[in-house]
Amino acid sequence: MISLERVSRAFAGRRSAGPLTVLSEVSLQVRAAETIAVVGPSGCGKTTLLELICGLQQPDSGSVRCPPAALMPQRDLLLPWLSTVDNASLALRVQGLDRRRARAAALPWLERFGLGGFERARPHELSGGMRQRVAFLRTLLAGKPVLALDEPFASLDAITRAQMQGWLSRILEQEQRTVVLVTHDVEEAVLLADRVLVLSPRPGRVLATIPIAVARPRLRSDPAVVALRAQALDALGSGA
Ligand SMILES: Nc1ncnc2c1ncn2[C@@H]1O[C@H](COP(=O)(O)OP(=O)(O)OP(=O)(O)O)[C@@H](O)[C@H]1O
Ligand SMILES: [Mg+2]
Repeated sequence: MISLERVSRAFAGRRSAGPLTVLSEVSLQVRAAETIAVVGPSGCGKTTLLELICGLQQPDSGSVRCPPAALMPQRDLLLPWLSTVDNASLALRVQGLDRRRARAAALPWLERFGLGGFERARPHELSGGMRQRVAFLRTLLAGKPVLALDEPFASLDAITRAQMQGWLSRILEQEQRTVVLVTHDVEEAVLLADRVLVLSPRPGRVLATIPIAVARPRLRSDPAVVALRAQALDALGSGA
């Protein structure tokens, strides 16, 4: 479904400093309906990797093949003057649907996303977790086979994050999309993904690919989850 072959990416450096290599020879194959999590230290090129997958950037060398993908960016980009339903259906409006049809497509989802009763609320009237759900619904309603999620829960407190992880896990089981999930949180990666890709510090290289063969729903306390989390942390440590 998604195929990256020895992808490298560099940005022009500042003044005398040479080019900044951000990703180095990253290869990755993702199957249809698979959820892959990408973990790695800050600045190792995770967002760059997602933008390459979504076609928002081109690699300097190597190749990227990916069907149409919808990106949920790292910063939630809800428009402050739009209601929940209009923010959620924005991608449909951009695709040319009129407002009435776009709203009609989004409305049935709001209840399932814990947003029932907040159809007309503006983003400032929503909690952080709710805003993330609106942003995620927008990404889902874009209707692309691939979802590229950039740290969807990074800004949330631990309790809300745990709730959102359980919730996302259930939604993804029902949706059968191909998902690339970038996260700082190794436990989150193990709870949600079929495979975890561990990147080194910049320039990001693949340190390990860890299959997560644990039945869902997964519990943090499950010894298999704990062991895989430790394995991913060890792999991260080996690149430091
Ligand atoms: N358009 C750009 N021009 C120049 N440098 C860039 C550009 N985009 C990213 N970089 C640099 O590339 C490196 C990787 O950035 P990227 O945003 O991909 O990292 P990241 O792994 O997502 O980090 P974080 O975990 O903090 O979100 C950083 O050093 C960043 O400064
Ligand atoms: Mg990032």
